[in-house]
Amino acid sequence: MRIALVTGAGRGIGREIARQLAGRGMTVFAGVRDESHAPEGTRPLRLDVTDEAAALNAAKTVGEEFGKLDVLVNNAALCGDYGVAPADVTAAHMRTTYEVGVFGVVTVTHAMIPLLRASGEARIVNMTTRLGSLALTSARDGINPDWAMLAYNSAKSALNAITVLYANELEGSGILVNGVDPGHCATDLTGHTGTRTAAQGAAVAVRMATLGGDGPTGTFSSEDGPLPW
Ligand SMILES: NC(=O)c1ccc[n+]([C@@H]2O[C@H](COP(=O)([O-])OP(=O)(O)OC[C@H]3O[C@@H](n4cnc5c(N)ncnc54)[C@H](OP(=O)(O)O)[C@@H]3O)[C@@H](O)[C@H]2O)c1
Repeated sequence: MRIALVTGAGRGIGREIARQLAGRGMTVFAGVRDESHAPEGTRPLRLDVTDEAAALNAAKTVGEEFGKLDVLVNNAALCGDYGVAPADVTAAHMRTTYEVGVFGVVTVTHAMIPLLRASGEARIVNMTTRLGSLALTSARDGINPDWAMLAYNSAKSALNAITVLYANELEGSGILVNGVDPGHCATDLTGHTGTRTAAQGAAVAVRMATLGGDGPTGTFSSEDGPLPW
């Protein structure tokens, strides 16, 4: 039985990832701040990713019952500076954004690493975005200028770096670590302006969460293929 944890699984793309993994027969812990928001077919697990004690408690709950974790999807994030020009962004915008999408990822991953190692064939999927790509941003390639968000985009650049550093260290441990871009999806995060559904956005994360043992690690991709860092 494969055991998965998806953070931010109460709505948006995370909810769809949790549903799709459960649909593939996994036991899915839906990391949520409000347990009533966990999708049907999943097990609600109270988890505010900014709360280290909550992350350790979550690891204890999973560990006591299953002794391992096979899939961790670091999905929870927020954008603290939508519509704010880079020069107007303050450290407060940065802190709120990084607290969830950067420090939260490290908090949860650090708490889950012993269980992921115990799996022997674990997958970590980090939900990032092409907006975090320094290569695309510096080339101004395909990046809508309205989406030049200093806090959000740089938090995802940090997440990309975190993805590579975890992947490099964990190579050979059976833990594959990859970053994915779901594309522009209609969720609360985008004010429902995206052209893709949350279910479509979830698909690439599910693919990387269900990689076979010969799958890649340390990659960054969308449904259409590899993206430059
Ligand atoms: N939508 C897109 O077009 C798009 C594009 C590229 C990348 N992404 C990435 O895909 C992921 C999902 O995005 P989305 O569009 O589905 O966002 P969303 O609809 O705004 O949902 C965000 C999720 O994060 C959770 N969250 C926020 N703060 C949290 C905290 N402190 N602890 C635990 N959970 C917390 C929310 O939980 P609550 O319900 O409790 O608030 C919610 O479940 C994010 O990493 C985002 O950056 C999205």
